[in-house]
Amino acid sequence: MPFVLENVVRPNILALKPYRCARNDYSEGILLDANENAYGPSLPSGDSANLNRYPDPAQHLVKTAVVALRGLRGVENLFLGVGSDEVIDLLIRIFCVPARDKVLITPPTYAMYSVSAQINDVEVVKVNLDVEDGKFQIKPGEINARLASDPNIKLVFLCSPGNPTGTVLSHASIRAVLESPSYTGIVVIDEAYIDFVSEDRDGSVATWVEQYPNLVVMQTLSKSFGLAGIRLGIAISHPSIIQLMNNIKAPYNISTPTSQIALRALSPLGHATMRAHLASILSERARLIAALKSFPVSGVWRIIGGNDANFVLIQIVDVSMGRPDNAKAERVYKRLAESEGVVMRFRGDEIGCEACLRVTVGREEDNNLLLERLEKVLSEKCDREVGARIFSHVPCQCHAKGVEGSSRLSDPSLVALLSAVPYLDLLCVEMVSLLKNRFVPQPYCPQNR
Ligand SMILES: Cc1ncc(COP(=O)(O)O)c(C=O)c1O
Repeated sequence: MPFVLENVVRPNILALKPYRCARNDYSEGILLDANENAYGPSLPSGDSANLNRYPDPAQHLVKTAVVALRGLRGVENLFLGVGSDEVIDLLIRIFCVPARDKVLITPPTYAMYSVSAQINDVEVVKVNLDVEDGKFQIKPGEINARLASDPNIKLVFLCSPGNPTGTVLSHASIRAVLESPSYTGIVVIDEAYIDFVSEDRDGSVATWVEQYPNLVVMQTLSKSFGLAGIRLGIAISHPSIIQLMNNIKAPYNISTPTSQIALRALSPLGHATMRAHLASILSERARLIAALKSFPVSGVWRIIGGNDANFVLIQIVDVSMGRPDNAKAERVYKRLAESEGVVMRFRGDEIGCEACLRVTVGREEDNNLLLERLEKVLSEKCDREVGARIFSHVPCQCHAKGVEGSSRLSDPSLVALLSAVPYLDLLCVEMVSLLKNRFVPQPYCPQNR
């Protein structure tokens, strides 16, 4: 079905008369149009670089630099937002009528699509990725069937490389959704991590906006450029979609410090720095993966996903059972954060990511510490004293369940036992694995003490 933008945009947005200021037309001269403070910023000293003036609403210079960097046609293809997160929110507000329209996402995926949808009272339709063996690819047939059966779906959010999957989507699968025979809405490809994709994998689809009028590609300076703090997100699309985004954004959404720093980062020197950092991250990513694949202690089962981003997904295993162990992964996560000063992200609640910890590739020294401390936590043996302290809290449960004289506990009593331990976090990983397998080592069993 042909894509007709006017049929997809909310009528109130289509009819909107956007905010205009004198600065849209005149930006030079004695500027007495915007009730700014002509005496300057109240900063003690230093270069205050025009901070008393509202920033350029169009951000022409930054856009020109992005166009050159990404090989795009022109600034009319570009929107700048306060991070990609603002872009996500604006797209939902442009295209989805609250309490009627829907967005489609492909879990496991970036959480902000759902969060923004919920904030805007927009329903979320889910078509899970193919997660088998960590493939993490979209299922275009299923997606297109959902799109065909539900005309209220106005936006499809695809993440490539995905978060938390770290896996780039195949161009063929993205094209299959873009060419869905019955869909008349917008397809958004979130390329926040695109610069981390190796050259032999399918890369950016940003230039496809020339071909597909319903495609929006999101990028950001938060990841490869290392500028999460300035909040600069990019949307690349057909000029008519870009115009709508400009119409509804806050007039001065990109601050002057943000644009000044972005310009430095997008300069040839800034770009060279980004490339150098990228090379280090990619080499550290490879080293981290290699180290985890031959980890000296048991507990790390495998690395899943395509490793196309600046993080890896580590799956933690219950060694004795030979399967992913979500509870153990969460304990490892907590123990690393609370006792070892290493913070990663527990992703075990996401479909296809059971027992997974998402670890951002850090600097060499960070990664060394991570490997060292992960090894320490995974190889901890429960010491007798800790075990005795734990079991001193639960003799009545053991007794009540009739396990006197026995070193084995039934599952329900084990659950009661574990929930009765007030300082479960102290329980070492090894100990919990033993408990989970319903074996309480003799010295720790209260009846045998
Ligand atoms: C897939 C994905 N998209 C977008 C973002 C947010 O980007 P920004 O910092 O530009 O808002 C993130 C942040 O982690 C992300 O993982």
